[in-house]
Amino acid sequence: MPRLFRRIKEIRGFIKDIKCGGNNVSVGLVPTMGYLHEGHLELIRLSKLQNDLTVVSIYVNPLQFGEGEDLDRYPRDLDRDLALCEEAGVDVVFAPDDEEMYPEHPNVKIEIPGLTDRLEGVYRPGHFNGVAIVVLKLFNIVQPNKAYFGEKDYQQLKVVERLVKDLAIPVETIPVPTVREEDGLACSSRNVYLSPEERQSASSIYRSFLLAQKLFQSGNTDAETLKQAIREFLLKHPHVRKIDYVEITDENLNPVNEVKEGDRILVAVFVGNTRLIDNWRISHEKV
Ligand code: PAF
Repeated sequence: MPRLFRRIKEIRGFIKDIKCGGNNVSVGLVPTMGYLHEGHLELIRLSKLQNDLTVVSIYVNPLQFGEGEDLDRYPRDLDRDLALCEEAGVDVVFAPDDEEMYPEHPNVKIEIPGLTDRLEGVYRPGHFNGVAIVVLKLFNIVQPNKAYFGEKDYQQLKVVERLVKDLAIPVETIPVPTVREEDGLACSSRNVYLSPEERQSASSIYRSFLLAQKLFQSGNTDAETLKQAIREFLLKHPHVRKIDYVEITDENLNPVNEVKEGDRILVAVFVGNTRLIDNWRISHEKV
């Protein structure tokens, strides 16, 4: 079983003792909100390859949920997560409660103009403020050498990378490619909300990326045309109820008009009542 810590003071003491041992132990942090899936396990596998000690944090961070979002029903099962962590060879799990993480509501606000106010930031105001606070706090508590983030949450990854750069935080962020189910749906803890029929329609997101990539590969580089093709394709599927956005940007999330290799398609789509986000790196590679 991994060592389980619920208190900041205790995990801090543990990490301090390990690092003070003088044998340069490297620590990898995998921050999660629990209900672990194959995407998280991939982050853990990489951390284990690259570090002496792997810490997984499990905390459903209320600060990153807006009003009317799914904070209360977000799936939680610590025993299941601990069993998966044990199987994956995780050394330490840090699973604080709200009282431990936020004895007082944090008053600090973190914004990165041009980054936190786009895409998800428009539809989920305050979301990245909450993500930034919890990630910085976890970095301060665990003091990892490396921290692992899935490309599935591409904007989140960019926000964390920017924080690390702007604030000279001594943590290397490691981006990890999105893990997909057999039919292409990106692994996400929120996939459990989907009914079997919705689950089938949800794979249209991946297929819309392939369609856009095919158009690109046949010489169509107009972003508007690709976005329109994606929208039309998605809305043809039952249960695809609403599209918050379909955007094509460069790798730093600046919207583009002319699409080139390495640009990203980013989408947020409601399938039934479940809001799914996903993204795709456009390339000339055959899939
Ligand atoms: O990606 C997530 O699961 C969360 O946003 C994170 C990084 C663990 C912060 O709560």
